[in-house]
Amino acid sequence: MERLNSKKKIAVFISGKGSNLNNLIKYSQLNKSLFKIELVLSNKANAGGLKFAELNKIKNYIFDKEIQLFEKGAIKLISKFKIDIICLAGFMRILSPYFLKEVKIPILNIHPSLLPKLKGLNTHERAIKAKYKYSGCTVHFVNNELDSGKKIVQKKIKILKKDTPRSLAKRILKLEHKAYIEAIEKII
Ligand code: GRF
Repeated sequence: MERLNSKKKIAVFISGKGSNLNNLIKYSQLNKSLFKIELVLSNKANAGGLKFAELNKIKNYIFDKEIQLFEKGAIKLISKFKIDIICLAGFMRILSPYFLKEVKIPILNIHPSLLPKLKGLNTHERAIKAKYKYSGCTVHFVNNELDSGKKIVQKKIKILKKDTPRSLAKRILKLEHKAYIEAIEKII
């Protein structure tokens, strides 16, 4: 009981299919978890990940107009539900300096590359094109610069000769799932 009450409350921001979200939800339901997923916010009405929130009866909200309205809504909900940590998981918008200043809790992001290499989009394609030997994923704090905040956890794998952007993405996604949990538990 005590553990349940002391679990940190997380809000997850998504835009897409939500495999990271689903993985965090599943882990959070284990007794050993130090956190619970309290809220899910999406900037896309059709984000596949919303179904995981629904299935698990997690409060979820859609703000699919301007990013300013998303941020305004998010600020209110974060305060209302006393959220401790925000996790961006496939959230495809850049949060404004205003939001980052206003929200006084840690904001984490997961990026599918070995940062500082390959910031931005299409990382797997670029990793293969550049003939990198390794790629991976990084969980980091969010700051005012894209994919540039302090690293929390980084995991790497070898890029195989036969890898396509799709096969590499699939293998890295599995690593992402482990890395996100490790990173959250590390900062708690
Ligand atoms: C992940 O590869 C994440 O690193 C990137 O977007 C993808 C989201 O996947 N930022 P999912 O929606 O969690 O399945």
